[in-house]
Amino acid sequence: MKDVILKNRLQAAASFVRRGSAIADVGTDHAWLPIYLLSRGIASRAVASDINEGPLCRARINIPKNLSKKIELRLTDGLAGIEDFGAQDILICGMGGELIARILQDAPFTKDKNIRLILQPMTKAPYLREFLLSAGFRIIDEALADDDRIYQVICAEYCGESEEYSPVELLLGRHNIAHGGELFTRFVEQNIKIFEGIRAGKASGAADTSYEDEILDGLNTLLQVTK
Ligand SMILES: C[S@@+](CC[C@H](N)C(=O)[O-])C[C@H]1O[C@@H](n2cnc3c(N)ncnc32)[C@H](O)[C@@H]1O
Repeated sequence: MKDVILKNRLQAAASFVRRGSAIADVGTDHAWLPIYLLSRGIASRAVASDINEGPLCRARINIPKNLSKKIELRLTDGLAGIEDFGAQDILICGMGGELIARILQDAPFTKDKNIRLILQPMTKAPYLREFLLSAGFRIIDEALADDDRIYQVICAEYCGESEEYSPVELLLGRHNIAHGGELFTRFVEQNIKIFEGIRAGKASGAADTSYEDEILDGLNTLLQVTK
């Protein structure tokens, strides 16, 4: 079997999987994550699901024979019908933050202190963080990954208590802020550019820029501390 080389964002997600876990990979597409995690003996068994038949066909072709009994494929929306598999670590990567939140909202069985969520939103990370924190999940760690752009990976577990983050923490992640580092500095700089653009656009239309002003203040302060 050829060695699976994961993109950095998937590698970062894989690094949060606990050794010996039964995993669910929602929106698996090519099934690289379960193949990687099982072939390295990190996960013990996997359910790989997708809402579309095409990706599941790709997954079926990619899964090597020696793993076919350990990776179960299911055609389903999000986590519907997955509860019985008993996944301990649930990965949802490569989807928008709102869709990931909707999938979790529709699967109340994920509110279990023994289940770990490993989420890699392509967009709307602040929305996803806000959803998790208000739904009683605690964000236990985070990572940044550099591929064609900088991606965020969020690792969360249910604790039953809600928590509040500042707007900058929702945007960048409290753990990412604590970890710091060169990639984090670049991430802050990129966000400063994005928010300066948004603020300029709003200001030219005489719209309220107080949210962007608050974010930019926070980002510039962070940049001074991290550099
Ligand atoms: C961009 S791919 C990401 C594949 C892989 N997880 C990754 O990160 O590289 C998104 C996958 O999610 C699937 N998908 C989209 N909405 C879904 C849903 N509601 N439930 C399950 N899978 C979904 C798509 O069919 C597609 O295969």
